[in-house]
Amino acid sequence: MENKMPGEAGKAFPSVSGDSVSRQNASSPAPGLSPAERIAGVIGDLPAMPHIAAQLLDKLSCEDTSPREITQLITKDQALAAKVLKLANSPFYGASRSIATLNDALLFMGFDSIRSLIMTTVLKSMYSKVGLAEKLFWEHSVGCGLAARKIADEVRYLRRDEAYLAGLMHDVGKAALFWHAPGLMREVIRDVLNDGLDFLEAEQRRFGFTHAQIGGAVAHTWCFVASIERAIADHHQTERSGSTLELTHLVSAADSICHKLSVGPIKKPDMDLNEVASMKALGLTPDRVAKILEASAKTLTPAPADI
Ligand SMILES: [Fe+2]
Ligand SMILES: [Fe+2]
Repeated sequence: MENKMPGEAGKAFPSVSGDSVSRQNASSPAPGLSPAERIAGVIGDLPAMPHIAAQLLDKLSCEDTSPREITQLITKDQALAAKVLKLANSPFYGASRSIATLNDALLFMGFDSIRSLIMTTVLKSMYSKVGLAEKLFWEHSVGCGLAARKIADEVRYLRRDEAYLAGLMHDVGKAALFWHAPGLMREVIRDVLNDGLDFLEAEQRRFGFTHAQIGGAVAHTWCFVASIERAIADHHQTERSGSTLELTHLVSAADSICHKLSVGPIKKPDMDLNEVASMKALGLTPDRVAKILEASAKTLTPAPADI
Protein backbone atom coordinates (compact mmCIF):
# COMPACT_ATOMS: atom_id res chain seq x y z
CA MET A 1 0.00 0.00 0.00
CA GLU A 2 1.37 3.41 -0.83
CA ASN A 3 0.22 5.74 1.86
CA LYS A 4 1.01 9.39 1.57
CA MET A 5 2.78 10.31 4.74
CA PRO A 6 2.95 13.45 6.82
CA GLY A 7 5.53 15.77 5.45
CA GLU A 8 5.06 14.46 1.91
CA ALA A 9 1.63 15.95 1.81
CA GLY A 10 2.61 18.94 3.91
CA LYS A 11 0.50 17.76 6.81
CA ALA A 12 1.53 16.76 10.28
CA PHE A 13 -0.01 14.37 12.72
CA PRO A 14 -2.04 16.18 15.35
CA SER A 15 0.28 17.52 18.01
CA VAL A 16 -2.23 17.95 20.81
CA SER A 17 -1.45 15.57 23.64
CA GLY A 18 -4.40 13.40 24.50
CA ASP A 19 -3.78 13.99 28.18
CA SER A 20 -3.71 17.74 27.97
CA VAL A 21 -7.03 18.34 26.29
CA SER A 22 -10.26 18.85 28.14
CA ARG A 23 -12.79 16.34 26.91
CA GLN A 24 -16.36 17.47 26.38
CA ASN A 25 -18.95 15.78 28.50
CA ALA A 26 -21.86 18.04 27.62
CA SER A 27 -25.09 16.55 26.32
CA SER A 28 -25.45 18.84 23.32
CA PRO A 29 -23.09 20.07 20.59
CA ALA A 30 -21.06 23.24 21.18
CA PRO A 31 -23.47 26.10 20.36
CA GLY A 32 -22.83 28.59 17.59
CA LEU A 33 -20.38 26.43 15.62
CA SER A 34 -21.03 25.10 12.13
CA PRO A 35 -20.72 21.31 11.54
CA ALA A 36 -17.43 21.96 9.68
CA GLU A 37 -16.05 23.90 12.67
CA ARG A 38 -17.15 21.16 15.04
CA ILE A 39 -15.49 18.51 12.84
CA ALA A 40 -12.28 20.56 12.84
CA GLY A 41 -12.50 20.67 16.65
CA VAL A 42 -12.71 16.87 16.83
CA ILE A 43 -9.76 16.46 14.44
CA GLY A 44 -7.65 18.93 16.44
CA ASP A 45 -8.35 16.87 19.54
CA LEU A 46 -7.00 13.55 18.21
CA PRO A 47 -4.31 11.86 20.30
CA ALA A 48 -0.75 12.50 19.23
CA MET A 49 0.88 9.84 17.10
CA PRO A 50 3.65 8.28 19.18
CA HIS A 51 7.07 9.50 18.03
CA ILE A 52 8.44 6.13 16.90
CA ALA A 53 5.17 5.26 15.16
CA ALA A 54 5.23 8.54 13.22
CA GLN A 55 8.86 7.94 12.21
CA LEU A 56 8.04 4.39 11.15
CA LEU A 57 5.03 5.40 9.08
CA ASP A 58 7.19 8.00 7.36
CA LYS A 59 9.96 5.46 6.61
CA LEU A 60 7.49 2.80 5.48
CA SER A 61 6.19 5.18 2.83
CA CYS A 62 9.64 5.56 1.20
CA GLU A 63 10.33 3.11 -1.58
CA ASP A 64 14.06 2.93 -0.86
CA THR A 65 13.72 2.12 2.84
CA SER A 66 15.41 -1.18 3.71
CA PRO A 67 14.05 -3.77 6.17
CA ARG A 68 17.20 -3.12 8.22
CA GLU A 69 16.24 0.56 8.73
CA ILE A 70 12.75 -0.44 9.82
CA THR A 71 14.14 -3.07 12.17
CA GLN A 72 16.46 -0.51 13.77
CA LEU A 73 13.54 1.84 14.40
CA ILE A 74 11.27 -0.87 15.78
CA THR A 75 14.04 -2.03 18.12
CA LYS A 76 13.88 1.38 19.82
CA ASP A 77 10.38 0.53 21.04
CA GLN A 78 10.56 -2.78 22.86
CA ALA A 79 6.79 -3.04 23.29
CA LEU A 80 6.30 -2.59 19.54
CA ALA A 81 9.09 -5.07 18.78
CA ALA A 82 7.38 -7.66 20.98
CA LYS A 83 4.06 -7.02 19.22
CA VAL A 84 5.62 -7.49 15.79
CA LEU A 85 7.11 -10.84 16.77
CA LYS A 86 3.87 -11.93 18.45
CA LEU A 87 1.85 -11.02 15.36
CA ALA A 88 4.30 -12.72 13.00
CA ASN A 89 3.89 -15.94 14.99
CA SER A 90 0.10 -15.66 15.37
CA PRO A 91 -2.43 -17.82 13.49
CA PHE A 92 -3.39 -14.60 11.66
CA TYR A 93 -0.28 -15.07 9.47
CA GLY A 94 -0.12 -18.86 9.55
CA ALA A 95 3.69 -19.14 9.56
CA SER A 96 4.86 -22.71 9.08
CA ARG A 97 7.83 -22.18 11.41
CA SER A 98 8.62 -20.08 14.45
CA ILE A 99 9.84 -16.57 13.58
CA ALA A 100 12.51 -15.48 16.03
CA THR A 101 13.98 -12.22 14.74
CA LEU A 102 12.55 -8.87 13.75
CA ASN A 103 14.28 -9.06 10.40
CA ASP A 104 12.65 -12.41 9.61
CA ALA A 105 9.30 -11.06 10.83
CA LEU A 106 9.59 -8.06 8.51
CA LEU A 107 10.52 -10.14 5.50
CA PHE A 108 7.66 -12.53 6.24
CA MET A 109 4.95 -9.97 7.00
CA GLY A 110 5.93 -7.13 4.71
CA PHE A 111 5.86 -3.39 5.32
CA ASP A 112 2.09 -3.10 4.93
CA SER A 113 1.55 -5.41 7.87
CA ILE A 114 3.81 -3.29 10.05
CA ARG A 115 1.78 -0.25 9.02
CA SER A 116 -1.44 -2.09 9.98
CA LEU A 117 0.05 -3.06 13.32
CA ILE A 118 1.01 0.54 14.09
CA MET A 119 -2.46 1.78 13.19
CA THR A 120 -3.98 -0.99 15.32
CA THR A 121 -1.93 0.27 18.27
CA VAL A 122 -2.92 3.89 17.66
CA LEU A 123 -6.62 3.03 17.28
CA LYS A 124 -6.55 0.98 20.47
CA SER A 125 -5.10 3.93 22.37
CA MET A 126 -8.18 5.92 21.32
CA TYR A 127 -10.41 3.31 22.97
CA SER A 128 -8.19 3.25 26.03
CA LYS A 129 -10.74 4.04 28.68
CA VAL A 130 -11.78 0.36 28.72
CA GLY A 131 -15.46 0.86 29.49
CA LEU A 132 -17.82 -1.78 28.15
CA ALA A 133 -18.86 0.42 25.22
CA GLU A 134 -15.27 1.14 24.19
CA LYS A 135 -14.39 -2.55 24.43
CA LEU A 136 -17.30 -3.47 22.13
CA PHE A 137 -16.33 -0.82 19.58
CA TRP A 138 -12.72 -1.99 19.66
CA GLU A 139 -13.75 -5.62 19.12
CA HIS A 140 -15.94 -4.51 16.24
CA SER A 141 -13.03 -2.66 14.60
CA VAL A 142 -10.65 -5.63 14.79
CA GLY A 143 -13.45 -7.99 13.71
CA CYS A 144 -14.24 -5.87 10.68
CA GLY A 145 -10.56 -5.80 9.70
CA LEU A 146 -10.33 -9.58 9.89
CA ALA A 147 -13.63 -10.09 8.04
CA ALA A 148 -12.52 -7.65 5.32
CA ARG A 149 -9.40 -9.75 4.81
CA LYS A 150 -11.45 -12.91 4.48
CA ILE A 151 -13.69 -11.27 1.90
CA ALA A 152 -10.60 -9.97 0.08
CA ASP A 153 -9.33 -13.56 -0.14
CA GLU A 154 -12.67 -14.75 -1.49
CA VAL A 155 -13.04 -12.06 -4.16
CA ARG A 156 -9.30 -12.10 -4.94
CA TYR A 157 -8.77 -8.49 -3.90
CA LEU A 158 -4.99 -8.60 -3.91
CA ARG A 159 -4.24 -5.80 -1.44
CA ARG A 160 -5.22 -7.85 1.61
CA ASP A 161 -3.50 -5.59 4.13
CA GLU A 162 -5.26 -2.59 2.64
CA ALA A 163 -8.55 -4.45 3.14
CA TYR A 164 -7.60 -5.22 6.74
CA LEU A 165 -6.56 -1.63 7.44
CA ALA A 166 -9.73 -0.19 5.87
CA GLY A 167 -11.88 -2.60 7.91
CA LEU A 168 -9.97 -1.90 11.08
CA MET A 169 -10.30 1.88 10.65
CA HIS A 170 -13.80 2.08 9.13
CA ASP A 171 -15.36 3.39 12.36
CA VAL A 172 -12.36 5.48 13.42
CA GLY A 173 -14.85 8.37 13.50
CA LYS A 174 -16.54 6.74 16.49
CA ALA A 175 -13.16 6.38 18.20
CA ALA A 176 -12.46 10.06 17.56
CA LEU A 177 -15.87 11.03 18.94
CA PHE A 178 -15.34 8.86 22.04
CA TRP A 179 -11.97 10.53 22.53
CA HIS A 180 -13.31 14.04 22.00
CA ALA A 181 -16.66 13.87 23.77
CA PRO A 182 -17.25 10.64 25.71
CA GLY A 183 -20.29 12.08 27.47
CA LEU A 184 -22.00 12.94 24.18
CA MET A 185 -21.15 9.53 22.76
CA ARG A 186 -22.86 7.89 25.71
CA GLU A 187 -25.93 10.00 24.87
CA VAL A 188 -25.68 8.66 21.31
CA ILE A 189 -25.63 5.09 22.61
CA ARG A 190 -28.64 5.86 24.83
CA ASP A 191 -30.49 7.26 21.79
CA VAL A 192 -29.72 4.05 19.89
CA LEU A 193 -30.79 1.75 22.72
CA ASN A 194 -33.77 3.71 24.05
CA ASP A 195 -35.15 5.56 21.02
CA GLY A 196 -34.35 2.98 18.35
CA LEU A 197 -32.30 5.45 16.28
CA ASP A 198 -29.42 4.11 14.25
CA PHE A 199 -25.97 5.49 15.00
CA LEU A 200 -25.98 7.93 12.09
CA GLU A 201 -29.29 9.47 13.17
CA ALA A 202 -28.22 9.66 16.81
CA GLU A 203 -24.87 11.24 15.90
CA GLN A 204 -26.64 13.81 13.74
CA ARG A 205 -28.90 14.61 16.68
CA ARG A 206 -26.11 14.96 19.24
CA PHE A 207 -23.16 16.23 17.18
CA GLY A 208 -24.66 17.60 13.97
CA PHE A 209 -22.51 15.22 11.84
CA THR A 210 -21.77 11.49 11.62
CA HIS A 211 -18.87 9.20 12.47
CA ALA A 212 -18.47 8.55 8.74
CA GLN A 213 -17.85 12.25 8.10
CA ILE A 214 -15.39 12.47 10.98
CA GLY A 215 -13.75 9.20 9.90
CA GLY A 216 -13.11 10.54 6.41
CA ALA A 217 -11.57 13.67 7.92
CA VAL A 218 -9.36 11.59 10.26
CA ALA A 219 -8.20 9.44 7.33
CA HIS A 220 -7.38 12.59 5.37
CA THR A 221 -5.47 14.09 8.31
CA TRP A 222 -3.50 10.89 8.77
CA CYS A 223 -2.74 10.79 5.02
CA PHE A 224 -4.32 7.42 4.25
CA VAL A 225 -4.47 6.41 0.59
CA ALA A 226 -7.54 7.70 -1.24
CA SER A 227 -9.22 4.28 -1.46
CA ILE A 228 -9.13 3.81 2.33
CA GLU A 229 -10.22 7.39 2.96
CA ARG A 230 -13.22 6.87 0.68
CA ALA A 231 -14.05 3.48 2.20
CA ILE A 232 -14.11 5.04 5.68
CA ALA A 233 -16.12 8.08 4.59
CA ASP A 234 -18.61 6.13 2.47
CA HIS A 235 -19.07 2.79 4.26
CA HIS A 236 -22.69 3.72 5.02
CA GLN A 237 -23.25 5.25 1.56
CA THR A 238 -21.38 2.88 -0.71
CA GLU A 239 -22.88 4.32 -3.88
CA ARG A 240 -20.84 7.52 -3.38
CA SER A 241 -17.39 5.94 -3.71
CA GLY A 242 -16.90 6.09 -7.48
CA SER A 243 -13.65 4.54 -8.69
CA THR A 244 -12.69 3.27 -5.21
CA LEU A 245 -15.96 1.39 -4.89
CA GLU A 246 -14.57 -2.14 -4.51
CA LEU A 247 -12.79 -1.48 -1.22
CA THR A 248 -15.78 0.45 0.09
CA HIS A 249 -18.08 -2.50 -0.66
CA LEU A 250 -15.56 -4.85 0.93
CA VAL A 251 -15.63 -2.83 4.15
CA SER A 252 -19.40 -2.46 4.11
CA ALA A 253 -19.79 -6.23 3.61
CA ALA A 254 -17.35 -6.93 6.47
CA ASP A 255 -19.31 -4.52 8.66
CA SER A 256 -22.48 -6.54 7.93
CA ILE A 257 -20.71 -9.80 8.79
CA CYS A 258 -19.81 -8.33 12.19
CA HIS A 259 -23.41 -7.22 12.76
CA LYS A 260 -24.67 -10.68 11.82
CA LEU A 261 -22.16 -12.31 14.21
CA SER A 262 -22.88 -9.71 16.94
CA VAL A 263 -19.24 -8.60 17.04
CA GLY A 264 -19.52 -5.14 18.55
CA PRO A 265 -22.39 -3.01 19.83
CA ILE A 266 -24.76 -3.66 16.90
CA LYS A 267 -26.26 -7.16 16.88
CA LYS A 268 -28.38 -8.35 13.95
CA PRO A 269 -28.31 -12.16 14.07
CA ASP A 270 -31.42 -12.38 11.88
CA MET A 271 -29.96 -10.29 9.09
CA ASP A 272 -30.05 -11.89 5.62
CA LEU A 273 -26.55 -11.24 4.30
CA ASN A 274 -27.64 -12.17 0.79
CA GLU A 275 -29.79 -9.03 0.75
CA VAL A 276 -26.85 -6.77 1.65
CA ALA A 277 -26.14 -4.52 -1.35
CA SER A 278 -22.36 -4.78 -0.97
CA MET A 279 -22.43 -8.59 -1.04
CA LYS A 280 -24.32 -8.39 -4.32
CA ALA A 281 -22.02 -5.69 -5.66
CA LEU A 282 -18.99 -7.90 -4.96
CA GLY A 283 -20.67 -10.70 -6.90
CA LEU A 284 -20.91 -12.95 -3.85
CA THR A 285 -23.41 -15.74 -4.40
CA PRO A 286 -25.23 -17.26 -1.37
CA ASP A 287 -22.82 -20.21 -1.17
CA ARG A 288 -19.79 -17.89 -1.14
CA VAL A 289 -21.45 -15.63 1.44
CA ALA A 290 -22.07 -18.71 3.60
CA LYS A 291 -18.41 -19.73 3.20
CA ILE A 292 -17.20 -16.27 4.29
CA LEU A 293 -19.63 -16.23 7.21
CA GLU A 294 -18.47 -19.64 8.41
CA ALA A 295 -14.79 -18.68 8.16
CA SER A 296 -15.45 -15.38 9.91
CA ALA A 297 -17.44 -17.05 12.69
CA LYS A 298 -14.46 -19.27 13.48
CA THR A 299 -12.18 -16.25 13.80
CA LEU A 300 -14.54 -13.70 15.31
CA THR A 301 -16.57 -15.64 17.87
CA PRO A 302 -15.81 -15.28 20.68
CA ALA A 303 -14.87 -11.70 19.91
CA PRO A 304 -11.40 -11.31 18.41
CA ALA A 305 -8.59 -11.01 20.91
CA ASP A 306 -5.96 -8.34 20.65
CA ILE A 307 -3.60 -8.85 17.78
FE1 LIG B 1 -19.92 2.81 10.70
FE1 LIG C 1 -19.00 -0.63 11.83
